[in-house]
Amino acid sequence: MTIRQDYLQDALSHLRDFISDIYIYPEVGSTNDIALSLAKTNAIEGTLVVADHQLKGKGRNGNEWVSETGVNLMFSLILRPDCLPNALTLLSLLSALSVAEALKKHTDRHFEIKWPNDVLLDGKKICGILNESAIMGRQAAYIVIGIGCNINQTDFGPNLQHLATSLKASTGKRYDRVAILADILTRLNVHYTQFLEGKARESLKLWKNYCKMLGRTIHFKYEGQTQQGVAEDIDEQGFLIVRQPKRTLLLSQAEISTIRY
Ligand code: BTN
Repeated sequence: MTIRQDYLQDALSHLRDFISDIYIYPEVGSTNDIALSLAKTNAIEGTLVVADHQLKGKGRNGNEWVSETGVNLMFSLILRPDCLPNALTLLSLLSALSVAEALKKHTDRHFEIKWPNDVLLDGKKICGILNESAIMGRQAAYIVIGIGCNINQTDFGPNLQHLATSLKASTGKRYDRVAILADILTRLNVHYTQFLEGKARESLKLWKNYCKMLGRTIHFKYEGQTQQGVAEDIDEQGFLIVRQPKRTLLLSQAEISTIRY
């Protein structure tokens, strides 16, 4: 099933102040790549790129993002916040919060956020987010928020079945992708507005309710080595505070990978 332009436009009609232009493709290389080239050619804030299939879906840390055709959500949104580049980490966290809240609206399941922005269900990944940004002078020029969310896929193959899940794989029910996309963007609009008004602290409180990692010992890759420490908290910019016996680290998502707890 492909996402129909009129159906999507209708579902997003209450977000006209937030979502400005909508591009829908049956197949692309990567929605992030399309959004990035649109952003470079001055596409306005709120430009949304949605695809039913990606040939070269990009994940974090150079990984690939693989998804069946026409059953999941793959989209990228261009935002142009007036902020310093460091503040963009917060948008990563707020994107994951928006997804968790939207999914929660459709099921009674418990979703978890793994810092900074993986959304998990039943201990498996249901959503991954790749944010790519550019800087102009000292300010952020734009950010592309790329979201891949598994909705109706049930077969993840032998390599991924223990790591990935979807709403349908977990509950046995089929879900309306467009309704969920509209809910994700509705929540993102709320959190983005708070962010722009300097009130992201409110949203971060909600984010922490979904994060089970805080207070636990985590194992992670940092400076090329596997290390461990206690994930104490996140700071006001969304950086992770990790306590080790002899030092406390303040980590950005670019510095740390493969977190386990
Ligand atoms: C991750 O590794 O967890 C991030 C995955 C992000 C995947 C999404 S799908 C839509 C957008 N386009 C891409 O190429 N990647 C992101």
